[in-house]
Amino acid sequence: MKTIIEPFRIKTTEPIKIITKEQRKEALEKAKNNVFLLDAEDCCIDLLTDSGTGAMSSAQWAAMMLGDESYAGSKSWKKFEATVQSITNIKHILPTHQGRAAESILATSLISNGDIIPNNSHFDTTRANIEFAGGIALNLLCAEGYDTSREAPFKGNMDIGKFETFLQETDREIIPFGMITVTNNTGGGQPVSMENIRAVKALLQRYDIPLVIDCCRFAENAFFIREREEGYADKTLLEIAREMFSYADAATMSCKKDGLANIGGFLICNNDDWAEQFKNLLIMREGFPTYGGLAGRDLEAIAVGLMEALELDYQVYRNATMQYLSTRLIDLGVPIVRPAGGHAVFIDAAQFLPGMSPLHYPGIGVVNALYLEGGVRSVELGSVMFGSFDDEGNETPSPLELVRLAFPRRVYTQSHVDYLIEVIDMVWQNREQIPGYKITKQQQYLRHFSCYFEEL
Ligand code: F0G
Repeated sequence: MKTIIEPFRIKTTEPIKIITKEQRKEALEKAKNNVFLLDAEDCCIDLLTDSGTGAMSSAQWAAMMLGDESYAGSKSWKKFEATVQSITNIKHILPTHQGRAAESILATSLISNGDIIPNNSHFDTTRANIEFAGGIALNLLCAEGYDTSREAPFKGNMDIGKFETFLQETDREIIPFGMITVTNNTGGGQPVSMENIRAVKALLQRYDIPLVIDCCRFAENAFFIREREEGYADKTLLEIAREMFSYADAATMSCKKDGLANIGGFLICNNDDWAEQFKNLLIMREGFPTYGGLAGRDLEAIAVGLMEALELDYQVYRNATMQYLSTRLIDLGVPIVRPAGGHAVFIDAAQFLPGMSPLHYPGIGVVNALYLEGGVRSVELGSVMFGSFDDEGNETPSPLELVRLAFPRRVYTQSHVDYLIEVIDMVWQNREQIPGYKITKQQQYLRHFSCYFEEL
């Protein structure tokens, strides 16, 4: 059979409602034109994020009933620890309430003023945590990663040439660790090849610098390696994941992605001294080291979810959804990042609205138009999220203006995707009516979450 079907059937449903265009207009105005400030029930297809929005399996729900809520040394913790260890083979496992808590503990413990942390692309919370600790978050993504229309198998790869030059020219003392993000969320959800991870590790090793993997979407990355990299077609996703982690000295994880859970994260490392430092902060900020910021039942759900994310049938289905959407959008002429990412399809807003200045935030224009047209909530990954300010306060735009349609795991069906395609097509056909925006209120860190926009 050629047709790929969802490898599950649906036992519990949740109603969604479609409010009228007039009501959406009112809702968006009330939300200061920032979709983060909308009520979720006013969004009929919510593609704001794939983070914590997935549907849990019956096995996960059943596991939750086994949650051992003991403060210390619970049975649920044992299962969680054993599962994370069996996938990563990393020694110290610290549970956190989500990924950014792991990042915050990592950054506070290891980064001093002026330190530089290289990565293929830092996610916004990673960058914020590094900057908050006084560090500099440096992106060294390969050139094809910035070319949205070019098809290449591993556009999340680190630019090895630039990385090597950076290591040669920088004082080793100001590089406490290097990072690699799999998949590369901010650059279109593109995967990183095993060869690239190996090369990054080898270079870092030469300078005795540890490698930290941001592994939020490790299972999706493992699937792409199996599909696209020579020598991996006959391996299981678990085997591939194990090899990826064999190059890591530490990792940060948001279990809200490939943990298939609604909350959770972890910070893991092999270095005993690091683990001691991390634990001190963990106890103050998150909780006792055998539960972190989580309930016993959450640990149970994650232990099951991490393994389900590594099931091949599940990844085949998930990828088929991205392929289905991206193929149709390409047929309609809509500019998207090619190929489709692992967790999302990304519209190239700079090409969607070619005449618009990046500082009029074309991504916000497209995001808001999708909401007004069909109640679809997406998110800008462009100059609002990643723009920066120089010392004189001048705003520098992001190199990419993307709009992400992120797919909650196991939540939407094909007819939801068909509806979405119709909405995008309408917006595409009427694109010359899309306005630019200006920001009227913003915060110093992570401004995209709460800033106010006004139509120009
Ligand atoms: N790293 C990456 C690559 C991420 O995509 C995220 C979260 C984090 C770290 C932080 O994890 O949310 O559990 O604190 N990404 C979500 C998103 C929010 O929408 O892409 P968290």
